Amino acid sequence: MRIMVCRDKAAQGEAAASLFAAQILRKADSVLGFATGSTPLMTYAALAGLCERGAVDFSKARTFNLDEYVGMDPSHEQSYSRFMADNLFSKVNIPRENCQLPNGNAKDMDAECGRYEAAIEAAGGIDLQLLGIGHNGHIGFNEPSGHFARKTHCVTLTETTIEANKRFFASAGEMPRRALSMGIGTIMKARGIVLVIHGEDKADITAKAIRGPVTPSVPASILQFHPDVTVILDETAAAKL
Ligand code: GLP
Repeated sequence: MRIMVCRDKAAQGEAAASLFAAQILRKADSVLGFATGSTPLMTYAALAGLCERGAVDFSKARTFNLDEYVGMDPSHEQSYSRFMADNLFSKVNIPRENCQLPNGNAKDMDAECGRYEAAIEAAGGIDLQLLGIGHNGHIGFNEPSGHFARKTHCVTLTETTIEANKRFFASAGEMPRRALSMGIGTIMKARGIVLVIHGEDKADITAKAIRGPVTPSVPASILQFHPDVTVILDETAAAKL
């Protein structure tokens, strides 16, 4: 793992965006894995800025997102589909047909999970995957459990995650209880991974994920076994390393 500590969120976003820009410069039709949450916002803003100035060209890139809520209309403002459209896809020159998320409205969830996994494989696998981390160590929506999920699957969200994410919804009852998420196996197959973590409230989980034992009760800890991970921290998240 390469660990870098930046002064603030904006610097983290620039650092992560530079790695994605470099990936596209090396290979125009790169397959990029994207994430949602508040953490990637600075990265997306920095990528949009680079694209606007002509420093990076997304026209041949393809993207797959980590996850999506089940049963939510893609146009709902809290759907991950809408999040990506608002924060990245509408701000860079990527053709929308090149951007995929799991379909949380599919009739048959198992079939949708299989389709998504196959689509990633058919694209040649993910070249570079962006990740944030939940307070309980989840990546994508791979919640702490007794095993590492291999493939894209349907997840029942934990109370911790519902508690953390309900602030985005008008009421806690509106927050979906299930999501489709790439598996830990899907994430580990990405050729490169960029994990961005900021904030004092993530200092404990950062230390557990990066220095603690590798265990499915801290899903992000598996990244210690990946050959190419760059961890981009701010000073507060790095405080307990
Ligand atoms: C959600 C997403 C994760 C993300 C996490 C942390 O649960 N599924 O991919 O890493 O939130 O979000 P934040 O960056 O807002 O702390």
